Amino acid sequence: MELRGDVTVTTSPVLDRPNTPRVWRLPGVYRPQEDSFLLARALHDAGGAQDAKVLDFCTGSGFLAITAAKAGAGAVTALDISRRAVLTARANALSRRLPISVLRGSLDKAVEHGPFDVVLSNPPYVPVDGEGKDPRWDAGPDGRSVLDPLCDSLPTLLSPDGFALLVHSEFTGVEETLERVQAAGLAGSVVARERIPFGPVLQRRLSYLQEVELAERGVDSEEVVVIRAARI
Ligand SMILES: C[S@@+](CC[C@H](N)C(=O)[O-])C[C@H]1O[C@@H](n2cnc3c(N)ncnc32)[C@H](O)[C@@H]1O
Repeated sequence: MELRGDVTVTTSPVLDRPNTPRVWRLPGVYRPQEDSFLLARALHDAGGAQDAKVLDFCTGSGFLAITAAKAGAGAVTALDISRRAVLTARANALSRRLPISVLRGSLDKAVEHGPFDVVLSNPPYVPVDGEGKDPRWDAGPDGRSVLDPLCDSLPTLLSPDGFALLVHSEFTGVEETLERVQAAGLAGSVVARERIPFGPVLQRRLSYLQEVELAERGVDSEEVVVIRAARI
């Protein structure tokens, strides 16, 4: 990663990921990382997004929206609540002349613009006690403050043959997501998983995770999973 003035350029579409798009970011915008890459790979494994109408919910830099557009999507809507993320994603999309509409907003706006053939989301999912409020990763005491309403909205967001790919940590509760998706009348399954060492955010949250028994003592890695949801 290199710093140019106040713009951070991610030059780490690491060597073993030759198709990973490079994005630049305003400060404070999420850097695409293992969870983003795992979801991008899951989209590829699902056959891409040829001609699909795609939603990238919680787009950050626009990394997944760009991945979908490059995978042949007909139209991509990218949403984020952060102004900086929206500006960043717009610039990344415009510089590539890709069919991506980047909007500021949350689920209400997603529903307004749906339904979608493919819904992608790498939402904030880190459990945090009362203090944490960084929208890039903090997601309430159980890490589900954005994920749960998203799961509940999937029947409205998805077109009849549509599917969703959602990524999050094991600490957010894989069973909970599968049950939530099922309660919404959809079928859910884990389609990708990867164990990764704790990054700085989880390192800082570890004592809280242990306190609320979401993580065992002595662990230094987490499993990140991609869940697919579709109508039965
Ligand atoms: C983990 S980052 C993912 C960014 C990007 N998708 C990626 O994989 O690189 C989560 C993003 O969700 C955004 N966000 C948080 N809460 C949101 C909400 N309720 N609605 C829309 N976006 C939200 C944050 O601003 C942040 O950009």
